[in-house]
Amino acid sequence: MFIRSLAPGDDRSAFRSGNIDLDRFFQRFAGQNQFRHYVGVTYVAVDGESILGFVTVTAASIEVSSLSPQARKRLPVYPVPVLRLARLAVGEAVQGQGIGSSLLRHVFSLAHEMASRIGCVGVIVDAKEAAVPFYERYGFEALDVEAGRLGDRPVPTPMFLEIGAIPRPRKASP
Ligand SMILES: CC(C)(COP(=O)(O)OP(=O)(O)OC[C@H]1O[C@@H](n2cnc3c(N)ncnc32)[C@H](O)[C@@H]1OP(=O)(O)O)[C@@H](O)C(=O)NCCC(=O)NCCS
Repeated sequence: MFIRSLAPGDDRSAFRSGNIDLDRFFQRFAGQNQFRHYVGVTYVAVDGESILGFVTVTAASIEVSSLSPQARKRLPVYPVPVLRLARLAVGEAVQGQGIGSSLLRHVFSLAHEMASRIGCVGVIVDAKEAAVPFYERYGFEALDVEAGRLGDRPVPTPMFLEIGAIPRPRKASP
């Protein structure tokens, strides 16, 4: 298994994570977002021709007031740059085999690269309810913004991991 950026010819039609919104995003929008609109880049974990999982990232900024008092103390008062983990999913058949954590480590190496090249104070993610404990394992903390439920739909939890808490990759990412 290795991780590379999405290529225009990748066949995404067979990917099923069990989350219909994530699957639809991957099949219909990940390519055009990356190759036509430049709003984000998707990285895929592949084994030969088969796509095992994907993660989509995009540059973003965050209001310093939403960070914890400790993180806020060291930062200027204007919005600061972050890397947004916009979508993450692993194929249903291969979940629980470390692919999600490999994709997350790839995002961490991108965050360090962004920090050293253009600035990045950390990674943010809008975590789905069931995935909150997954992100907590890696040190993400819920941001101090309102979260709750909209009718029957659970509202995602915005979470943040500051760059200083992200282990540096042992070697540069491809
Ligand atoms: C959440 C998801 C990306 C995790 O990927 P994965 O490949 O199954 O996870 P990994 O095998 O890399 O797990 C890494 C560790 O996190 C744990 N973990 C995985 N999912 C977890 C969850 N939902 N809650 C708590 N811990 C979790 C694993 O047990 C493992 O622990 P270990 O290192 O002690 O063995 C995957 O289950 C998925 O795609 N789910 C559906 C879509 C989704 O919810 N995406 C997140 C959107 S914000």
